[in-house]
Amino acid sequence: MKPFSKRMPHLGTENAFSVIGKAKKFEQEVLAPKGEKLVYLQIGEPGFNTPDNINHAAIKAINDNQTHYTATTGIQPLREAVAKISSNYSAVPYKASDVIILPGGKPVMFYMINALIDEGDEVIVPNPSYPIYGSVTEYLGGKMVPIQLREDRNFNFTAEDLRALITPKTKMIILNSPQNPTGGVYTKELIEEIAQIAIENDLWVLSDEIYDRMVHEGEHISITSVPGMQERTVMLNGCSKTYAMTGYRVGWAVTSNKEMAEYIEKLACNDVSCTSTIAQYAALEAITGPQDQVDYMLDEYKKRRDLMVSLVNEIPGIHCHSPKGAFYLMVNVRELLDKLSISADELCDRIMKEAHVLILPGTVFGLFGDDFVRFSYVSTEDDIKEGLARIKTFIESIS
Ligand SMILES: Cc1ncc(COP(=O)(O)O)c(C=O)c1O
Repeated sequence: MKPFSKRMPHLGTENAFSVIGKAKKFEQEVLAPKGEKLVYLQIGEPGFNTPDNINHAAIKAINDNQTHYTATTGIQPLREAVAKISSNYSAVPYKASDVIILPGGKPVMFYMINALIDEGDEVIVPNPSYPIYGSVTEYLGGKMVPIQLREDRNFNFTAEDLRALITPKTKMIILNSPQNPTGGVYTKELIEEIAQIAIENDLWVLSDEIYDRMVHEGEHISITSVPGMQERTVMLNGCSKTYAMTGYRVGWAVTSNKEMAEYIEKLACNDVSCTSTIAQYAALEAITGPQDQVDYMLDEYKKRRDLMVSLVNEIPGIHCHSPKGAFYLMVNVRELLDKLSISADELCDRIMKEAHVLILPGTVFGLFGDDFVRFSYVSTEDDIKEGLARIKTFIESIS
């Protein structure tokens, strides 16, 4: 057989999906025959159903025969609605023509990095972070340069950390606030410093704001609020997290840079033609319809966060700060790992097999995740209580 392309070995993946595959197999083969179940505390998606008004809009779109192609950039009313909500954060209002609707937030990463990165170009990527940023960078021949998110700084980095990593080959910086997996939120000061560094060094910014509505204290600050940044930034956002619509697959890229918008459109045209028309009408209802369900979900996440943080901090050898955003909890397990001489991966594996709870090792999100395990607090209060009780009993029994 002729070989695969030289790029393929550099393409990573989201290991969270393979962990779930392994867990489901374990549950089916080992636990189910005994009538037992895993408690899932690793889930990276909203623990609620999509609100009814949104599902009804999708059904109406089908009944209205809105089942054909749209323009690659999306239906006009949705582009207008997205421009309007994105302008809540930006220095200058966005126009509908700045918006490209895509099948999820993820394609924004693939298209923007594709549009910019040549062999050897460097991309500064927060670490730990969503694994796809680094995977796509390396697949395209770029170099991922990790910038550590520091627990003692509420998972921010410093302007000095950033300056130290910039070389003549640096082409872009990736930001994600609120963050997956740490729940950290960048401060206004840091965002302003990053913007200044980006302008001074002529860098592009991918600003992943998919958790923008999930800021539990304070308000969401976008780098696009800094004058001069909208031209060099692509803002990534979408319906997946805010509206519990992960399976609909609707996201968007927003940028005032015309050439970048054209390249993203061209890449999307080559790849997917357009986003599902039905899903676009559902997204339009999500954004322009009643927001009470979103408010309810956000209130619930905050309550569940507080519950989880207090239960985690009752367990000896592990601890966490209260995260300011998203729905994740990065728990420091270093003391326990050292005591048992095991890695975070091994700890999670034992917690699955012996305590029957699924959580993710921090290393799934990069090398600076090795002191941590990630919980998510989208699960029900009952699951949170049961999962943490099981983990507590397990840890007390082995330490
Ligand atoms: C930080 C971050 N960005 C983007 C995405 C992808 O979102 P979507 O499902 O809309 O592609 C995720 C999903 O987990 C995420 O955590």
